[in-house]
Amino acid sequence: MSAYKFIDHKFDVVVIGAGGSGLRAALGAAQAGLKTACITKVFPTRSHTVAAQGGISASLGNMSHDDWRWHMFDTVKGSDWLGDQDAIEYLTRNAPAAVYELEHWGVPFSRTADGKIYQRAFGGMTKNFGEGPIQRTCAAADRTGHAMLHTMYGQSLAHDTEFFIEYFALDLIMDDGVCRGVTAWKLDDGTLHRFQAQMVILATGGYGRAYFSATSAHTCTGDGNAMALRAGLPLQDMEFVQFHPTGIYGAGCLITEGARGEGGYLTNSEGERFMERYAPSVKDLAPRDMVSRAMTIEIREGRGVGPNKDHIFLHLDHLDPKILAERLPGISETAKVFAGVDVTKAPIPVLPTVHYNMGGIPTNYHGEVVTKNGDNPDQVIPGLMAVGEAACVSVHGANRLGSNSLIDLVVFGRAAALRCAEILKPGAKQPELKDAQTEAHLARFDRFRNASGSTGTAELRLEMQKAMQEDAAVFRTGESLDSGVKRLQAVWDKKSDIKVSDRGLVWNTDLMETLEFDNLIGQAVVTVNGAANRTESRGAHAREDFADRNDTEWMKHTLAWLDNQSGKVKIDYRPVHSYTMSDDIAYIPPKQRVY
Ligand code: FUM
Repeated sequence: MSAYKFIDHKFDVVVIGAGGSGLRAALGAAQAGLKTACITKVFPTRSHTVAAQGGISASLGNMSHDDWRWHMFDTVKGSDWLGDQDAIEYLTRNAPAAVYELEHWGVPFSRTADGKIYQRAFGGMTKNFGEGPIQRTCAAADRTGHAMLHTMYGQSLAHDTEFFIEYFALDLIMDDGVCRGVTAWKLDDGTLHRFQAQMVILATGGYGRAYFSATSAHTCTGDGNAMALRAGLPLQDMEFVQFHPTGIYGAGCLITEGARGEGGYLTNSEGERFMERYAPSVKDLAPRDMVSRAMTIEIREGRGVGPNKDHIFLHLDHLDPKILAERLPGISETAKVFAGVDVTKAPIPVLPTVHYNMGGIPTNYHGEVVTKNGDNPDQVIPGLMAVGEAACVSVHGANRLGSNSLIDLVVFGRAAALRCAEILKPGAKQPELKDAQTEAHLARFDRFRNASGSTGTAELRLEMQKAMQEDAAVFRTGESLDSGVKRLQAVWDKKSDIKVSDRGLVWNTDLMETLEFDNLIGQAVVTVNGAANRTESRGAHAREDFADRNDTEWMKHTLAWLDNQSGKVKIDYRPVHSYTMSDDIAYIPPKQRVY
């Protein structure tokens, strides 16, 4: 493939992605004296973390007494007992320090009257092991992710991270099971780059855009997950896809759960606050999987609102307009623009919308990527880490609690940097890279660049998105999932007939969207196959033909490998870590998760 020449770079650490987890990891690695690069396909402050609204969870106890053990319990229970309890202990113990670090870096948190960080209620966050809602989610109005991302980008620049902006990462450079770096395409001048590193950290976010309607940005194509699949590594628990209860009907834009945290509530066509029936103790502040299911049932049973009875109302019109202006200014504007609703006067039409991927690249709580090798379910892949939504560490198990994502980003971004500082030597000698290690990268790139089939990328992408939306929805059945497996295999097969019209290398968005689609379809295939395989209901994976959680057979993580030629999926399992770091507080699942 001599038509392409790489420009070479050498670093100790290369982070791919400049959202919350990528910036925190890059910043920490640079602080530790490691020569660090951060490669990102969008300008750092346009990364999807910028869209995070409601807040970041930590048991600061600013509004009432709180305890990290309560946060841990809620997270384990919220995960429907699929979360790894050692990782959840790490997350919740380290959460308060992580938030204070952000505060000291300059994040402009909202404040209580006495000047402390303001915290609001969020779904599934409770006091005293489930007694009732607690205010644990630290907020910068409803623009918390925006505030964090801008602050962390500034801090990263202060700590000598070298940024490679608008570089599209192509593939991992693997050498006999060890990751040695990554290749990338520089979008604005068309050059190709080879980044060698002692450690590559994937911080590439989720793949929400495999679905038709998602709160995720169009850039959320799970590029790191797809690179891992192409490197022969498995993804974990991909069948667990979170639907956020309150996407704006029709537009899909996020209306923060913080709206319900501030006193908002949902009603059906009878004006009934139906969540009282589904979760009598926490009501509208139940975890997202439960609220999304309840809304779907109300609509199915004919109690949806609107002319087609196909959505639900979210009321904020009873709240003090001053509170709305101060704490929920962003969503007030979004509701006006995308639903034409003045939230002080009328309810917002909402519908569950794809929001988050619990599954991803399996890691331990240091951020190191792991795989199953023979009897060892925790074999570390040297040279490779994953953090944030790309990773499955797994603190969210089968269902993530709102505001546990932002804290995951900074706690595990920091953990990965600490591990790098522990195991890497600044400037250590790295082995020569060989051309053979990147031949397949260039072949894939060239194949798509010159693809001259008859089906446009947008057409195939839409077919994939519709199949995911219809067949891997809030409720699933064996029938819908089998249909999904077949429809997505058909899309996979049509890749050989794909058409790319632009043959150039400079700002070729046609090619970039095709590479992104190729990344998405692999993850979509793995998702439906994992979902068809898991014959139980747990967290966000709700099967009507297997309505109960089945701990005897299914208290285990799915691992899925993709054959990159045929699109066929191989499945195996890893045990759930029901032990903790300190081993004295592990939580045992009761038969049902009740709120
Ligand atoms: O509703 C929200 O503000 C989203 C938060 C989250 O996904 O953590």
